[in-house]
Amino acid sequence: MTYSETLEKEILKKISVAENQDSLEKIRIAELGKKGKISLLMKDLSKLSPEDRKEQGSKLNILKKNISEAISLKKIELANIELEKQLLEEKIDVTLPVQVNQSKYGKIHPVSQVLDEISEIFGSLGYKISEGPDIETEHYNFNALNIPESHPARQMHDTFYLNNDNTKEKYVLRTHTSPVQVRTMEKGKPPFKFISPGRTYRCDSDQTHTPMFHQIEGLVVDEKTHLGHLKWTLETFFKSFFELDNIEIQLRPSYFPFTEPSLEVDVLCDRSGPVLKIGEGSDWLEVAGAGMVHPKVLRSSNIDPSKYQGFAFGLGVDRLAQLKYGIPDLRTFFNGDIRWLSHYGFSFLDLPTLSRGLKK
Ligand code: DAH
Repeated sequence: MTYSETLEKEILKKISVAENQDSLEKIRIAELGKKGKISLLMKDLSKLSPEDRKEQGSKLNILKKNISEAISLKKIELANIELEKQLLEEKIDVTLPVQVNQSKYGKIHPVSQVLDEISEIFGSLGYKISEGPDIETEHYNFNALNIPESHPARQMHDTFYLNNDNTKEKYVLRTHTSPVQVRTMEKGKPPFKFISPGRTYRCDSDQTHTPMFHQIEGLVVDEKTHLGHLKWTLETFFKSFFELDNIEIQLRPSYFPFTEPSLEVDVLCDRSGPVLKIGEGSDWLEVAGAGMVHPKVLRSSNIDPSKYQGFAFGLGVDRLAQLKYGIPDLRTFFNGDIRWLSHYGFSFLDLPTLSRGLKK
């Protein structure tokens, strides 16, 4: 068999009616593949006289080129048709209301929700987020924060020490998020303005303590920041978090080795009824620890305390979640009980935003 126009027309016809990419590929193999029709014709050229071989050879080369081109064009055409079909099938009407069958989906844990809320509020005040490791060295967890080995504050931390037999550096599960202050300051240059959310650990368990809990650390360091800024920041934060304008806070002198002066922050509340009410009554509820960053902490972070100063604060996230959403027992937070989560959890569509309001 040799080249003929009929043969070319026949193949082109087959290509033009191919229904999908698979059948097109079969045609390609049957015509152009190693054992395909055109390849066999090429092989037969050796049986021809030199003149015929020349003529047939060039005709077959043109045929091969034409067929390849026709296949490539058809491939693009079929791909476009298939894409159109897929787009039509997967069309979504975005004007339809969202239908969420809550029982079918997981819920957002109140701790995650409150962490998002707090980050949203501080984000709007210009704070960045900086994180540190859960397994921390004694240096960052204690020493760099002015809590040397013999310091009584170490006892108060009920620390989980890791197996430190063969290590020069001693490791602990961090007892607070304050080590992130030093870790972050060491890595950068002032001014600093960030929060550090995360898990913290202490060997303690009762109705108001769990061995793992969450804190958010806050730090602002520059040349001018003072105690008045701290008070405004915390007041603004609590008003926004509890979505109440009548929040009143009180700063009480306290002691933390890494701040000087140190303060405990209370919010006004009413404990006379069955539920605790924030912003009313005449009782005070402790909600945060805070203070002006101790010069020794700045020095541990290679920052000159004669030039820079700032404030720090630490918030108990789980406690804030309990207060805001009326969850009585802290231990239930981490039991992994799906019934608890479906009661206290949040829909994944309830993204906390300041513009829409933080509450569900
Ligand atoms: N790290 C303290 C704790 O866990 C909380 C704290 C108090 C953090 C005062 C601060 C602060 O940044 O200034 O008990």
